[in-house]
Amino acid sequence: MAKSGWTVAIVGATGAVGGELMSVLAERSFPVKRLVALASERSAGSEVEFAGEPLKVAPLNDSSFEGVDLALFSAGAAVSEQYAPLAVRAGAVVVDNTSFFRMHADVPLVVPEVNPAAVDVHRGILANPNCSTIQAVVALAPLHGLAGLRRVVYSTYQSASGAGRQAMEELKDQTVALLSFRDPPVSRFPRRLAFDCIPQIDKFLDDGSTKEERKMVEETRKIFDLPGLAVVATCVRVPVFVGHAVAVFVEFDRSITLEAARAALRDAPGVVLTEDPTAYPTAVDAAGDDPVLVGRLRVDPSVPHGLAFWCVADNLRKGAATNAVQIAELLASRGRLAPQVH
Ligand code: A2P
Repeated sequence: MAKSGWTVAIVGATGAVGGELMSVLAERSFPVKRLVALASERSAGSEVEFAGEPLKVAPLNDSSFEGVDLALFSAGAAVSEQYAPLAVRAGAVVVDNTSFFRMHADVPLVVPEVNPAAVDVHRGILANPNCSTIQAVVALAPLHGLAGLRRVVYSTYQSASGAGRQAMEELKDQTVALLSFRDPPVSRFPRRLAFDCIPQIDKFLDDGSTKEERKMVEETRKIFDLPGLAVVATCVRVPVFVGHAVAVFVEFDRSITLEAARAALRDAPGVVLTEDPTAYPTAVDAAGDDPVLVGRLRVDPSVPHGLAFWCVADNLRKGAATNAVQIAELLASRGRLAPQVH
């Protein structure tokens, strides 16, 4: 572990995203002086690994953030609601991976490839967008720069890991149960996921959409600073362990050629474009890596100035941990992390 650098707390260190946060911090050589691994009382005393070293997990409490410069939260919205303000009061900058603060007016919602300048004005808390939103806006940003977004339609194919470590276990247990002619256990998902797809992620809202779909709509508007953008989403859980896919249909303000769109995506940061339509990327291709893989780019002739494409990304990495660490890197490089006074 580096001797100089920041004291970093991971809230939810035993979770699926928490584990990736530690891997990504180490891989990217983020300057960590001390890592504080936090989880619930249930995990107290267990160990996680950071930079090849075992680390004891401490239970989260009111004094967990003493001396912490940067706190990366991924333990659910209720935990962020209660503890992120305490972390800020203790002097830490918070990058929150949950939905709790994302739409707050004074909380920047940041995807470094899209709106990096948003980190410059914050009051201690910055939000990491929803996993499917992140990968979609990384691919949309260069196209928006070319022709202006007018309407976006998202259909997602989201993996079990988006619901956490225990949800991944449940998909495995359901699969084994069904292949053994037993009843599958169902507790983390609203229905059985194995060998099926579930058009419900998060709870239902009054208008018949789900909260996950609402997040994609509102967060896309906030990240692009286009409050009036027409956006609609259908979010579907699929029996995949890691890696989300999104089919994106876009209508632009101005005409855009396929060749210009290809050129913009080829040059876009964080994007890998597959131009051979038959060599489309899948979630399995994206898992374990950071780029947003884009394929199946084509004209959508059903609207004026329309394009359609398919994108996949590792939801635990670019959809969560990598984006959060990139935000921390941006903060550090722009002098927006608190000075290291401890
Ligand atoms: P624990 O393992 O002790 O339950 P995932 O998203 O993979 O389900 O992980 C959720 C993470 O959030 C885990 O590290 C979990 O810890 C942590 N967590 C859940 N509830 C709390 C809580 N009340 N206080 C602190 N950490 C929590």
